[in-house]
Amino acid sequence: FPIWWYVAPTIVNTFLEQYDLSGKTIIPLATSGSSGMGNTNKELAVSCPGAELKEGKRFPADASAEELKAWAEGFGI
Ligand SMILES: Cc1cc2nc3c(=O)[nH]c(=O)nc-3n(C[C@H](O)[C@H](O)[C@H](O)COP(=O)(O)O)c2cc1C
Repeated sequence: FPIWWYVAPTIVNTFLEQYDLSGKTIIPLATSGSSGMGNTNKELAVSCPGAELKEGKRFPADASAEELKAWAEGFGI
């Protein structure tokens, strides 16, 4: 998702709230103009109770597919 005002857009909260994610691992992947993850996880945590919410990573808006793939592969995805 894109970082909007230092957090995930609230539609991401709405998405998470559609599922029972307890016991699941969530790894946020975000893009932004320049700022970091900011309060992203603090705001997302309330929408995925019982899930393990990892720190995740922020990429620049022009990150390449190769860069994203390399990051995801680090998790064995
Ligand atoms: C409403 C809005 C708020 C934004 N807030 C931030 C911000 O707080 N920090 C930042 O670095 N970029 C911010 N941006 C830039 C977006 O993060 C950037 O455009 C996005 O990651 C690129 O994805 P896109 O092509 O889907 O917009 C904002 C953009 C919009 C439209």
